[in-house]
Amino acid sequence: MDSLIVEGGAPLRGAVEISGAKNAALPLMAASLLAYSPVTLHNVPSLMDVDTMMLVLHTVGADVIRKGNTLVIDPSNFNIPEAPYNLVRKMRASIYVLGPMVARLKKAKVSMPGGCVIGRRPIDLHLRGMESLGAVVDVSHGYIVVDNPGLKGARFSLEGPNGSSVGATCNTLMAAVLGEGKSVIHGVAREPEVRDLVDLLNEMGARIEAQDSTITVEGVRELHGVEHSIIPDRIEAGTYMAAAAITRGDVILKNCHLPHMEAVVGKLREIGLEVEPVVGGARCRCNNGLLKPTNIRTLPYPGFPTDLQAQFTAFLSLIEGNSTVTETIYPERFMHIAELARMGAEISLFSATATVCGVKNLSAAPVMATDLRASAALILAALAATGKTEILRVYHIDRGYEHIEKKLAGLGARIHREG
Ligand code: UD1
Repeated sequence: MDSLIVEGGAPLRGAVEISGAKNAALPLMAASLLAYSPVTLHNVPSLMDVDTMMLVLHTVGADVIRKGNTLVIDPSNFNIPEAPYNLVRKMRASIYVLGPMVARLKKAKVSMPGGCVIGRRPIDLHLRGMESLGAVVDVSHGYIVVDNPGLKGARFSLEGPNGSSVGATCNTLMAAVLGEGKSVIHGVAREPEVRDLVDLLNEMGARIEAQDSTITVEGVRELHGVEHSIIPDRIEAGTYMAAAAITRGDVILKNCHLPHMEAVVGKLREIGLEVEPVVGGARCRCNNGLLKPTNIRTLPYPGFPTDLQAQFTAFLSLIEGNSTVTETIYPERFMHIAELARMGAEISLFSATATVCGVKNLSAAPVMATDLRASAALILAALAATGKTEILRVYHIDRGYEHIEKKLAGLGARIHREG
């Protein structure tokens, strides 16, 4: 298994190109199955999760060709209504084929995704979406089995106990677009990745209107292929901003879309960083040593994203004073705390709130990556620590960050991979 070796201490300086958003690419790849002709997606990042989704699309009969960051997905032979356990267990987002299967093949058999290290991750809202549209859902032997006797427009809410669900919104939308009549869906996720899916579907011929937390879908008979470019990855951009911040550096983020990052940019400015738009992107720099502690609460968009919680916890651990980080989306998503503590961070956890008592230095230690964003947090901590940190189980990072060590090295980080 590969590990990353990071020698800390160098402030990051220079420019980095932000890739297309993983969390938009995955549902948009699945949505391509809804068309009767090929869909071309540009700005698709080269990531393990994208490879897995390509495999899922192959498994259900579609042809996928990749040329650099462009994917051409030909759904003409999409005719297998099953996503087996060995794929879904690799990547939860495989469940995104559920909606297209129900809509186009009139039936679906998709393995139930299990829990994962960031906590319990139910799928009841996905099923609520299907049932509200008139599908018949059965869960047995670890599989979700859905029959579509003819989906009909309906008025319902997808709001869950922790707010809206990105996955359930995308799946329900992909089922509703080919249904009969009008659906009004309340309590939907407003994440930019969901809006990218709405844009793609509308370009394919769908009739969807998204406003705040409500989406209205007027069903259509068929959808056609188009060319579409995936939005920039706001989580990757936020991670590089946090990397600039924790190393007290100065980084230009090319192809970064600041309007998708208001909560994150607001926090960085409150802490004392300068974040400004520049032509084609943004600049994040630390102009003074006096950074202030803060309180972060993760929330569905437009709130502060849970996918940046771990990285900001690492950053706050080097700011003098007490900060708090409250996780409202995945209350158990704090696996990185024990690893950060091994590097000298002082963080205590009570319920879903971490209290971070800033320390002057972090020191290198062998640490273990537990999930995708926790891996990023450990890399950030290592960039600022004294000495050489070895980060084990780094395969998690390849799921979601394109060429991370190359990009960081381009900013002056001393980082390399060992196999
Ligand atoms: C997506 C992102 C993930 C991000 C998460 C929250 C992708 C591929 N993944 O995951 O990176 O961390 O959004 O922004 O885009 N929930 C239910 N019932 C359900 C579904 C969800 O109760 O049926 C709960 C979840 O447990 C969680 C909250 O709703 O507390 C939000 O989850 P959701 O938005 O669905 O996450 P994903 O789509 O799985």
